[in-house]
Amino acid sequence: MTRRYHITTFGCQMNKADSERMAGVLENLGFQWSETPEQADLVLYNTCSIRDNAEQKVYSYLGRQAKRKHEQPDLTLVVAGCVAQQEGQDLLRRVPELDLVMGPQYANRLGDLLEQVFAGEQVVATDPIEIVEDITKPRRDSTVTAWVNVIYGCNERCTYCVVPGVRGVEQSRPPAAIRQEMEALGAQGYQEVTLLGQNIDAYGRDLPGVTSAGRHQHTLTDLLYFVHDVPGIERIRFATSHPRYFTERLIRACAELPKVCEHFHIPFQSGDNEILKAMARGYTHERYRRIIALIRNWMPDASISADAIVGFPGETEAQFEQTLQLVEDLEFDLLNTAAYSPRPGTPAATWENQISDGVKQDRLQRLNHLVGQKAAVRSQRYLGRIEEVLVEGVNPKDPSQVMGRTRGNRLTFFPSEIAQVKGQLIPVKITQVRPFSLTGEVLHPVYA
Ligand code: SAH
Ligand code: SF4
Ligand code: F3S
Repeated sequence: MTRRYHITTFGCQMNKADSERMAGVLENLGFQWSETPEQADLVLYNTCSIRDNAEQKVYSYLGRQAKRKHEQPDLTLVVAGCVAQQEGQDLLRRVPELDLVMGPQYANRLGDLLEQVFAGEQVVATDPIEIVEDITKPRRDSTVTAWVNVIYGCNERCTYCVVPGVRGVEQSRPPAAIRQEMEALGAQGYQEVTLLGQNIDAYGRDLPGVTSAGRHQHTLTDLLYFVHDVPGIERIRFATSHPRYFTERLIRACAELPKVCEHFHIPFQSGDNEILKAMARGYTHERYRRIIALIRNWMPDASISADAIVGFPGETEAQFEQTLQLVEDLEFDLLNTAAYSPRPGTPAATWENQISDGVKQDRLQRLNHLVGQKAAVRSQRYLGRIEEVLVEGVNPKDPSQVMGRTRGNRLTFFPSEIAQVKGQLIPVKITQVRPFSLTGEVLHPVYA
């Protein structure tokens, strides 16, 4: 009888990419995808620990599966990802029904770990290791767009953040391996690749080789030049950028290379220099503003998104207003906002100057309100324009429409037949704009 598996993924794009690789490993072992966890023989939770609510969600899901295991003892229960790394053995103590607890660095080694599990062991794999290159083909969710990891881990020490603790030290993949993966994707018909790293600007600093000027030989900029002509791949994106290491050289490469999309995701976290210092971010709001000005100088239409945290320990009303001011001045296309959440093992969680939940929620609401206003203004510029949309699927709210993204990463809907346009770059005339999405129509003279 075929064994079936289900994976539930929480968290960021890294986790989504890891889940696709783990699904690839499972299918290689003969497992088949099950739409629901209830019908699966192996249930895997790929977890996120960035904020407390993300972590708590995992425990409620796990409780349900642990109960099921009492009726179905051959059920295999796996917890992977960032909560697994953070909690390790403690997770087994909390949920003794678990078979395998594995940190993110072990995603490619799921097969070996399961071998031990099927031999009857309960396994915890959280020791830091060197990440192995992919040996199996990932089972990708999309046939149009794909993630490609370029650097794992993070060497920063932002005082609020669990990522360095759970993802480990930076490990860059060799440029040739990245190009090879992209070539295979291009040959399979993928149109778009997003290069991934928690701090993608750090790419290559752990690889051997420096130039005569003392610069690392394999920077993100060099990587873009190295991969931009991969046949079949028409769009290249990358995330996440760190303002501390962001260079004008990179902006120039983006402006120069036609396949690199005009979209930058550069979190600023706070608009106040004292808070930025307490966060150990390594830049000032002035530097951040200069980066955005440089981008707009080189690429006036580039879309810019970011992340911000409100209610960091000690944040005063005046300091919060500096964040509002930055958003007012820079007009982001999209801003992911979050109330500060104290995380285990991070310095800021131990500080005494924590902000009350009420104040955090109030600031979050005020910031979100402004973000919506600014995004609406930014969307206006698309009205009446012709935008290139890469079609990914059907609009789940209206099956007569398909959806995709513009080069600037705006979600766009238009009436069409998915079978005819999936995976294609279609010029769409924008007829309606909303803060975070657009609606348009196909230019009939071109696509009759
Ligand atoms: N590497 C990226 C971000 C990674 S985490 C960077 O350096 O910007 C994604 C986002 O989660 C962060 O940008 C931050 O805004 C948010 N975040 C991280 N830790 C948080 C915490 N403890 N509380 C609230 N938000 C947090
Ligand atoms: Fe976390 Fe900072 Fe690393 Fe981003 S750069 S992952 S916020 S420690
Ligand atoms: Fe979450 Fe881990 Fe990503 S903590 S945001 S899944 S790196």
